[in-house]
Amino acid sequence: MRFKILAMLWLAGAALSASAQSKSFLVAKFKAGDDTARKEAGYNDKDWQTLKVTDVWDRQGVPASTDYGWYRFHFDAAPASEADRQKTEGDNYLYVNLGPVDDVDETYLNGTLIGKTGRFPTDEGGYASMWNTPRKYLADKKLLNRGGDNVLAVRVYSGGEPGGIFRGPVTVSTPRNLDGTALTFSEKESKGTSKCVITLSNEFPWTVKGVLEIKEADLETGKVGKTIRRNISARPGKNAEIALPYNIKSPVKMLVTFTDSKSGEMLKKAYTPKYILTPPAPAAPRFNTAPVYGVRPGSPVHFRFGVSGDRPMTFSSADLPEGLTLGADNGVLSGSIGDYGDYIFTVKATNAKGSAEQTFTLKVGDAIALTPPMGWNSWNCWGLSVSQDRVMSSANALVDKGLADYGYCYMNIDDGWEAPYRNDDGTIAVNEKFPDMKALGDWLHERGLKFGIYSSPGDLTCGGYLGSLDHELQDAESYNSWGVDYLKYDWCGYWRKHATQKDRNTLASYIRPYMLMGEYLRQQPRDIFYSLCQYGMADVWKWGHTVDANSWRTTGDIEDTWQSLYSIGFEQQLDLAPYAEPGRWNDPDMMIVGKVGWSDNLRDSRLTPDEQYTHVSLWALLAANMLIGCDLAQLDDFTVSLLCNNEVNAVNQDILGKQATCVVSDGDLRIWARPLADGSTAVGIFNVGDDDITVNLADYLPRLGLKSLKTNRDLWRQKDLSTTDLVYPVSTHAVRFLKVS
Ligand code: GLA
Repeated sequence: MRFKILAMLWLAGAALSASAQSKSFLVAKFKAGDDTARKEAGYNDKDWQTLKVTDVWDRQGVPASTDYGWYRFHFDAAPASEADRQKTEGDNYLYVNLGPVDDVDETYLNGTLIGKTGRFPTDEGGYASMWNTPRKYLADKKLLNRGGDNVLAVRVYSGGEPGGIFRGPVTVSTPRNLDGTALTFSEKESKGTSKCVITLSNEFPWTVKGVLEIKEADLETGKVGKTIRRNISARPGKNAEIALPYNIKSPVKMLVTFTDSKSGEMLKKAYTPKYILTPPAPAAPRFNTAPVYGVRPGSPVHFRFGVSGDRPMTFSSADLPEGLTLGADNGVLSGSIGDYGDYIFTVKATNAKGSAEQTFTLKVGDAIALTPPMGWNSWNCWGLSVSQDRVMSSANALVDKGLADYGYCYMNIDDGWEAPYRNDDGTIAVNEKFPDMKALGDWLHERGLKFGIYSSPGDLTCGGYLGSLDHELQDAESYNSWGVDYLKYDWCGYWRKHATQKDRNTLASYIRPYMLMGEYLRQQPRDIFYSLCQYGMADVWKWGHTVDANSWRTTGDIEDTWQSLYSIGFEQQLDLAPYAEPGRWNDPDMMIVGKVGWSDNLRDSRLTPDEQYTHVSLWALLAANMLIGCDLAQLDDFTVSLLCNNEVNAVNQDILGKQATCVVSDGDLRIWARPLADGSTAVGIFNVGDDDITVNLADYLPRLGLKSLKTNRDLWRQKDLSTTDLVYPVSTHAVRFLKVS
């Protein structure tokens, strides 16, 4: 409770005084068409219609075909007075906020251009929409007609319906000195020290100067430790930053205030820099992978036991079933078994520090993927610029950084590997970035890893590469010959074919292309994980298993923003738990931790560290595919600690295979829970709001079907907690991840 009060008191100072002399418009004068004379203050717009700026013009009777249109706003400017005397630079300016404009605008004050966003079709480089970008322009107050009529004129181009200014009001005011200033945070490592970088950005044409004050609060207790004060100044249009060393293993929340020396205005923000909760793995062997694996009768077995601990390590089994071998140096199980059944045996791992054993069940049957797939996919990092070298570099890192010892094994190439044309015999050809798929498959298998690939039931993929349409069997055979273990089959280009079908409004028309490839995959002599990607259309979770799929994307593409994570992870998973079970998984898309970028240009995930803890905890609860979407060669210690917590991953890989449901949705609090095979329950306590909260889990025990707790384990910290004091502070967008019984 103390923590909550502290944080609330601290944030309460954040409200800023409203700026003087402001004007707000909900309607404008409007006329379709284009004429540059309309920018002038004296232009006669008496016969123009009025139009709301709170909605697009198409919904207000303006023909949807309209490309150009002009808005005009009239306002009086008071004569220059005492009140205008410059206290801060901002007093010399007028601040114009249009909100977003669909799609391109040019904005004039009394005939003078004050801002432009996007590109008109006649501009160099051609048309570029920026329909979703809020327009914030500064204009010199010298442009004002003091004591008379003033006109703000906005020329708008719409590249296709809808069009216009739509998220009004439009406002004109004197800017606060700090309106163009923001505080942002990042982390960097230098010489083994973690630093939190606090950046003061300044978009305005004057220097912003003042004092940065940083209080460090302990994340657990809320106790505020030292206070640091630094002078800082950001020049016009530039950023200024300071870097503070901190201990990445003992989390602090930084309560940061910037006070502008000119105006006395303040900016406030709280941030918890990257912090590591996962305890280091012991040096002695520890099994981290689930004790079951499914294979079809006669299919090649290919399974790498995930065991952490010092290397070298040796693997052995005294009761290995006939037909199987176990790599003594690498713990890779191979061979095949022809008969259905559960084959139970014990595997032992030994190193200089000790040994560990796991009782393991090989289930030879029709079901594969008895726990959700774990591995990597190239899309969120490299997008279409994926190459064999990049796949191999990430595969090396997967092994070298120990991720393979936690069960990450699929190395999945997404879109961008296909050649522009098929071979003469109709088989699929690879582009120059992938010289030899069979060799790549062999190389991955030698390391105990698995090989994944991507295609579409359409003629083309989403990225415009070749799809499998009319070549499904040939492609399935090629994949088999390359040693492929996973196919992501992405709808995209199939829209064109779908549109031509008479029964396109029926469920059957959605199932058909997936059924076809599913059959051909099953005809191959190896087990190929079948991953459907059609964004959840036609309730795919209800029929995915009928085409022998092992997982199905339930949503559109994820991005590394809180909005995307919230919508995909929380809102769109609410009703999906009944459809997950061993061998059949709901797939909320690849993970957005580490360095991502969907291109050659990678950057740190834009999720805050707390949001990343939320992300991984939620994916564990959802029994989601755990496919890492970043460049593994650039993994930092924080991201490794997020991905390699054996107790957290054990929830994802729990052999009961039950997906979590949301059992509490109360204000900003969400509690998701899933039953585990050992009779306990995994519980995620999430704060999806912008303010910190304190949660007493005792209030919600009945909703977990519990009267009191016998055990209570913090999974990230791997520590037993009190079973009676269940009060937890949860920061904005953060999580407490527990296992209780
Ligand atoms: C779609 C999918 C993504 C990715 C791209 C590739 O957008 O949903 O996951 O595979 O296509 O082009």
